Amino acid sequence: MKKPVILINFKAYDTSFGKKGIDIAKKIEKISLEYSTEIIISVPPTEIYRISNEVSIPVYAEHVDANPLGAHTGSVTPEMVKDAGAEGTLINHSERRIRIDEIAEILSRARKLNLDTVVCVDRNELVKAIGTLEPTSILIEPPELIGSGISVSKARPEVITNAVEQVKEFPKVLLIAGAGITNGEDVSTALKLGAAGIGVASAVMKAKEPCKVVEEFVKSSLGN
Ligand code: G3P
Repeated sequence: MKKPVILINFKAYDTSFGKKGIDIAKKIEKISLEYSTEIIISVPPTEIYRISNEVSIPVYAEHVDANPLGAHTGSVTPEMVKDAGAEGTLINHSERRIRIDEIAEILSRARKLNLDTVVCVDRNELVKAIGTLEPTSILIEPPELIGSGISVSKARPEVITNAVEQVKEFPKVLLIAGAGITNGEDVSTALKLGAAGIGVASAVMKAKEPCKVVEEFVKSSLGN
């Protein structure tokens, strides 16, 4: 059986870029190799090239724009992040929502580029709609719990079980759960509820010792 996915979203914290960003990425890589587990990091667009050259774990973009290539100042497209070294991208994060037609456009281009896709949804009613578009994964995150330190596993377990049930209709699509994941128990509970992995940001990016937090998550994901 495939090991659970741990997706660490760097977002735009002061630890997410430059030297600090590379330091955290390298620490995460070390843990990933030590435990032979899948840890994915999604990083700001400016960091994709640099971090993907420094670590062997999968580096994703946090967002891509749906614009075609051409006269679109400031756009970061799937083609650009792929070329910079990204293996995948988040799409439609609650902090960076896009329209459904843009999601469909990005998914179609990402497929051609062999770029993994994690489409975020903020509610159960969207799981089937996104499932029909067949991204690599759906990441469900109740927005009110994001960055709260109160985990979806504890506060809204029904969100996970409901999404897991719905995603069964799309056997190729993985269901990941996130928001407020803080400790190992949050991770193991999410997995027990049927999630294929977890998404996390603040508990790692704001930690004094990110290694300790990531290691705890990994151990719990492996049932240790
Ligand atoms: O993408 C994951 C993220 O939105 C969860 O954030 O800070 O609640 O772990 P956080």
